[in-house]
Amino acid sequence: MSITFDKDKRLFHLRGRDTSLYVYLHESGMPLCPYFGRYLSELDVAAALSASPDWYSTYYSRADGCERSYENLWLNSTQFLTPTHAADARPAMAAVEGFYDDKLDLRYVSHRIYDGKPTSEILPYVRDGGGAQTLELTLKDFYKSVCVKLSLTVMPECNAVLRNTVLINETGAPLWLTRAMSVVCDLPRADMDIVHFPGEWCFERRLRRERLTEGVKTIGSASGRSSHEHNPFVMLADGDATETTGEVYAFSLMYSGSFKCEACVGKTGVTRLTMGIDDGRFRYEVRNGESFVFPEGVTTYGARGFESVSADLHYLIRNNIIKDNNVGAYRSILVNSWEGCYMDYDTEKVVSLVRSAAKLGAETFVLDDGWFANRNDDTRALGDWYENADKADIARIIDECRAHNMRFGLWIEPEMANPDSELLRAHPEYAAVNLDTDFWLSRHQVPLNFADDEVVNAVYERIAAVLEKYDIEYVKWDHNRQLEDCRARNLDGAHQYEFYHRNTLGYYRLAKMLTQRFDKVHFQGCASGGGRFDLGTLFYFPEIWTSDENDPVQRLFIQYGTSFGYPPSVMGAHVNACGVTDIKTKAAVALFGSYGFELDPRTLSEREAAEIREINEIYRKYHAEVVLDGDLHRLISPFDGKAFAVNMVSKDKTKALFLYVNLLKQLRARRFVKLRGLKPDAYYINSLDGKKHKGEHYMNVGLNLSFDLSEFESRLVMLNEV
Ligand code: DGJ
Repeated sequence: MSITFDKDKRLFHLRGRDTSLYVYLHESGMPLCPYFGRYLSELDVAAALSASPDWYSTYYSRADGCERSYENLWLNSTQFLTPTHAADARPAMAAVEGFYDDKLDLRYVSHRIYDGKPTSEILPYVRDGGGAQTLELTLKDFYKSVCVKLSLTVMPECNAVLRNTVLINETGAPLWLTRAMSVVCDLPRADMDIVHFPGEWCFERRLRRERLTEGVKTIGSASGRSSHEHNPFVMLADGDATETTGEVYAFSLMYSGSFKCEACVGKTGVTRLTMGIDDGRFRYEVRNGESFVFPEGVTTYGARGFESVSADLHYLIRNNIIKDNNVGAYRSILVNSWEGCYMDYDTEKVVSLVRSAAKLGAETFVLDDGWFANRNDDTRALGDWYENADKADIARIIDECRAHNMRFGLWIEPEMANPDSELLRAHPEYAAVNLDTDFWLSRHQVPLNFADDEVVNAVYERIAAVLEKYDIEYVKWDHNRQLEDCRARNLDGAHQYEFYHRNTLGYYRLAKMLTQRFDKVHFQGCASGGGRFDLGTLFYFPEIWTSDENDPVQRLFIQYGTSFGYPPSVMGAHVNACGVTDIKTKAAVALFGSYGFELDPRTLSEREAAEIREINEIYRKYHAEVVLDGDLHRLISPFDGKAFAVNMVSKDKTKALFLYVNLLKQLRARRFVKLRGLKPDAYYINSLDGKKHKGEHYMNVGLNLSFDLSEFESRLVMLNEV
């Protein structure tokens, strides 16, 4: 891992663990990216750029009044690092001074290479765990006096290239930024598949793979959060790429607000992928002398299929993004009250839930929505963060948890309020809608204006008071509606299109203040299930509620899709009361996530409770090493229709968990499932038949599952090196 500069060739080489990204300073001063992919010891730039001697762009030179051309440069075709002129392909950024010219003509001024990487006070970022190295390019539009600092960082242990952009206005006048793409990747080919993750509430991040053809494929969210409908994580892959073969490029945006991703196959057969803040409702004033910081973009490359890029992203998230770097740590088994009793509870009922949760083996109890003010249903009191001891006596409930050696957690939804709340009666101006007019409601609530620091501070004070008063060790942070029609009272008409970005910054500000002050608390992110599952949220909260869908068969699809960009350890996964499968299958599926229960434990039969206690033992023994810290191998995709299979292996490869879930009834089928990631020469004993085989056997012959299986029957198998 290193960054070098060959001055004569004007060529930077950014070397990842086994990748190369080359940046070439073209004679025009425009930085190009002639190559990003598998490690290359040297590069012949001219032979790698997609312009040809016959096809190039010309320009009018003001210096000598002539039409001139540059070698190897063809707008909309050559691989640019920071494209800004693009017409049919999409630019990296655009800024307007007057009305007619939003193009920036960025040329090289200087560079520096340093150990470390950019951080930010206001946005989440990838943490340098030691060993990061950065190339910072200073670029300038000399006519407009706009300066851009573009930083490319390589990390020591993985193939990620991180991209940070800061635009500095030196024009002497205000500038309006209208497009800010954090990720840009030009590839000189037009034969790739795009893999993305569309979805909806209760079916988030469904894998979708399609061939890119001429034109622009756009995905994104305009709803103020990264959303259920799309995820700010996409891949471009060889048409025949599999889990373990083929080239795959992966792109993630570290941002939780509205975003846009465009994959454009241009007329000359070059593919450009851009991803950044949604530019539909984005127009941001950068005053003279001020700067605008783009969210961080993450790009990675794998030469060995989807598994190789997932492994890199999992590594990066676990080691450099989530805060309580929980590698090797233990996450307690949790019971959440939501599906067990919704808002219908009182202190005695909660106490009895805590007792039965303890009997089940739970180590944390989380009291979900309904504990505050007169919140007995979702039409009222959201925003009133005061305890209602008549309904739920928190001190008494915590005492009960302590008596059973359990931790206690609370649900909050800081960014929203019901119009029927003390908060909005006292402060209607805090709402991000005009309460004096007709306004849209969703779940009977409205967003608060988090673009206003005063609102964020007021919410902070109220929530901090609760967290200060009680011994709370877990917080579930929810966000239950989209932001369709928002506006901010603190912004004038010209600045209303700053709302969505500023509101996201407000979310981060509150998350930062609360997580810093209550740094022992474990935070779980949530947004009506998995509506804000992104790297930005993971910077503050080490776990996110994956979906409100807890039916384990549906969950297979959701967790499978999510696993391409995010490790199982960050996916909240709970067993609920749904009757589709037996409790063992439900618990086994939840085991491949951050494990817990979403049910009334009092309703479980003795047999079910005993089965759960067995799985809890497996959890205690394997979770930290195998699921929190281990490597994931997707063996059979649930989208194949008949079955699903996965295995995870501890970093030292001494322990593994394997899960097979049958989807359709299969009788008399010969069925061997080949595992991956074991040591070929080590012997492992497996819990399926108690036999001992070499790793090479499990990986080449496979585990023999040739017995009758009915719908949704599963097998959870533990392997231990002997
Ligand atoms: C949506 C969440 O996804 C649920 O788990 C639950 O917390 C409810 N909100 C509570 O209102």
